[in-house]
Amino acid sequence: MSKAAIAEALEEARERTLALVEPLDDEQLNRIWSSILSPLAWDLGHIANFEELWLVQTIGGREPLHGELGRFYDAIENPRKIRGELPILRDEDLRAYMADVRARTLDVLEGVEIGPDVEDPLLRDGFVYEMLLAHELQHNETMLQLLQLVDGYELPAEVSRERSSSRIAETSASSTGETVAIDAGEYEIGAGPRGFAYDNERPRHTVELQAFEIDRTPVGNGAYISCMEATGAEPPLYWEREGDGWVDTSRGQRTPIDPSHPVIHVSWHQADGFARWAGKRLPTEFEWEAARDRLDGLGHGWEWTSSDFLAYPGFEAFPYREYSEVFFGDEHKVLRGSAWATHPRVARPTFRNWDLPQRSQIFAGLRCARDA
Ligand SMILES: [Fe+2]
Repeated sequence: MSKAAIAEALEEARERTLALVEPLDDEQLNRIWSSILSPLAWDLGHIANFEELWLVQTIGGREPLHGELGRFYDAIENPRKIRGELPILRDEDLRAYMADVRARTLDVLEGVEIGPDVEDPLLRDGFVYEMLLAHELQHNETMLQLLQLVDGYELPAEVSRERSSSRIAETSASSTGETVAIDAGEYEIGAGPRGFAYDNERPRHTVELQAFEIDRTPVGNGAYISCMEATGAEPPLYWEREGDGWVDTSRGQRTPIDPSHPVIHVSWHQADGFARWAGKRLPTEFEWEAARDRLDGLGHGWEWTSSDFLAYPGFEAFPYREYSEVFFGDEHKVLRGSAWATHPRVARPTFRNWDLPQRSQIFAGLRCARDA
């Protein structure tokens, strides 16, 4: 990306961020809505503080605008349940900080070298700018998770369009039994050395897979309802009974559940339970990546895999341990694909998302696999 393209992409991301919160007042931005989601004011300040830390302090060598403020926006030091109590910036101070940081970012950008031959790996090919864009857009998605809780909230037109167009009809591969067969063999997994990717997507390496079949489309609401009826499984988050059917109550609405749409807002435990009930299993993340180009119905919901979030062989943390490395282990499950709330820039084929297996606030569904 050229410097002009970087500046434009940063501006676009910021417009999207501000459009998401435009309908809300300061009280709603500051409110603690959920113990597992940050107040929106924290997200906004954190987006700006992360930008200041990397693009102004690290790259530009400048002092922070507000001294020690950054420690309250450290995502590892401050778990989500305490973020609403921190002395973070609010209201006009918050808006001024976001604008001040952005002005400094653009000023620093003027003076840096970002070509392919630059020695500093942060600046080579504009890595740090791509990282900042991805960071802001990923926080847009966590903000959208919270906005599901806001009664009467209306999505910005662009996001609403992305949501509608991401739904495919006739998703119930589990009822039609349509699968894609993938041969046994060696498959290349992960991101190559060039271009932007997170450290956890690297290095690219070969894995050996046994032959397997994977559903051509994600599991639909109708199939999930059948599973609930047969097994007593919990409904997805935000679903409520209405008459004989179900409605989605997110954003304070009561929208009838369309059985042909992909199911989302299920936890890993619910996804795993569905797959077992269907006589199948969740795919591993490597199976998912190997089959990705053959799959329909990507992009409405993240898809849970059976894989724990682990380092690839030869992993090196870059540019900081707290993005991925501190989360490696058997506590988090990997999700692949993307959701309607995910910006296309984030949805690389090799992108690995992760969350705790009990969480369903994330826009996640599943598709099933089985050994061939
Ligand atoms: Fe963050």
